[in-house]
Amino acid sequence: MAGEYRIAVIPGDGTGPEVIREGLKVIRAAAARFGFAIKTKEFDFGGERYKRTGETLPDGAVGELRKFDAIYLGAIGHPDVAPGILEKGILLRLRFELDQYINLRPVKLYPGVKCPLAGKGPEDIDFVVVRENTEDLYSGMGGVQYKGTPNEVATQIMVATRFGVERCVRFAFELARRRAKKKTLHLIAKTNVLTWCGDLWWRVFNEVGEKDFPDIKREYAHVDAACMWFVKNPEWFDVIVTPNMFGDIITDLGAMIQGGMGIAAGGNLNPGGVSMFEPIGGSAPKYTGKNVINPLAAICAGAMMLDHLGEAKAARAVEAAVMHVTANKLKDLAAGRMGYSTSEVGDLVAGALGR
Ligand code: IPM
Ligand code: MN
Repeated sequence: MAGEYRIAVIPGDGTGPEVIREGLKVIRAAAARFGFAIKTKEFDFGGERYKRTGETLPDGAVGELRKFDAIYLGAIGHPDVAPGILEKGILLRLRFELDQYINLRPVKLYPGVKCPLAGKGPEDIDFVVVRENTEDLYSGMGGVQYKGTPNEVATQIMVATRFGVERCVRFAFELARRRAKKKTLHLIAKTNVLTWCGDLWWRVFNEVGEKDFPDIKREYAHVDAACMWFVKNPEWFDVIVTPNMFGDIITDLGAMIQGGMGIAAGGNLNPGGVSMFEPIGGSAPKYTGKNVINPLAAICAGAMMLDHLGEAKAARAVEAAVMHVTANKLKDLAAGRMGYSTSEVGDLVAGALGR
């Protein structure tokens, strides 16, 4: 029997609703073509609701979201709300409470997309970053004392647990095996300075790799050097595993070498629970309501969601449709320079799906 999936939709702030609308258009087109059903329920979490009610996530929200097959998120971040409130109160809270311990971020240059790296093409840029998503500098541990005085002290603690590192590293090794590309896993860390947290990552990476993944080649790069290699030799990478904060930073760099925030998608995965899919860029408030933002990142996040739901054929078809559009239609991936509006790009991808 054909599947039916229940999707919680959080369009969020800024241009989030515009890109999610196109993502859902494409997902529905894929459902029609591949014979499954999508049932959505929308949640208004974000800056506007916070301004109105003073609430980030209402009581019971996390419990309700747990009942869905997946969550589809636009963007969180509002120019009128102080930094950190919505990010911690909504996005990070969902990642943490739903234990979405993997942040999976593919970096893939599609045909026709302008790459800022001279001499590099789609054959050179195709790797996946497995970003740990519940620990590290994001743990929320630490605090401030004597705030606003000359004696102010602030700490924000980097946390690595054996359990958290191991489950992330195992996921990454398994992914390298499944991809069957270069069968290589890079650990990106900073073991020369982070001699406790980095060392824990290093030991777990090597122990798990040696014992359970002898078929996967292990490589290591310090995070600063990795930034250099992303630009100089992106073709070296296949699967990368890295702590939360480094993963946050290097995936913005990754997004740029794959053509920008217009295309970069990610999944916050809990392999045994509810996962959440989102474009990795922000809410881009200055483009709100103008129908110029690029929806491809949200559409690609939708494809990742379909894959996660078990609709691998549909996911591949959406990705192929996106590639058809980048190769043959769009002039540029940047907002306002695509040669098409946001909704037209959604139509193009949905149309290409039926080809
Ligand atoms: C991302 C974002 C978030 C992060 C922010 C908005 C909290 O930059 O998803 O990469 O740092 O994880
Ligand atoms: Mn980020």
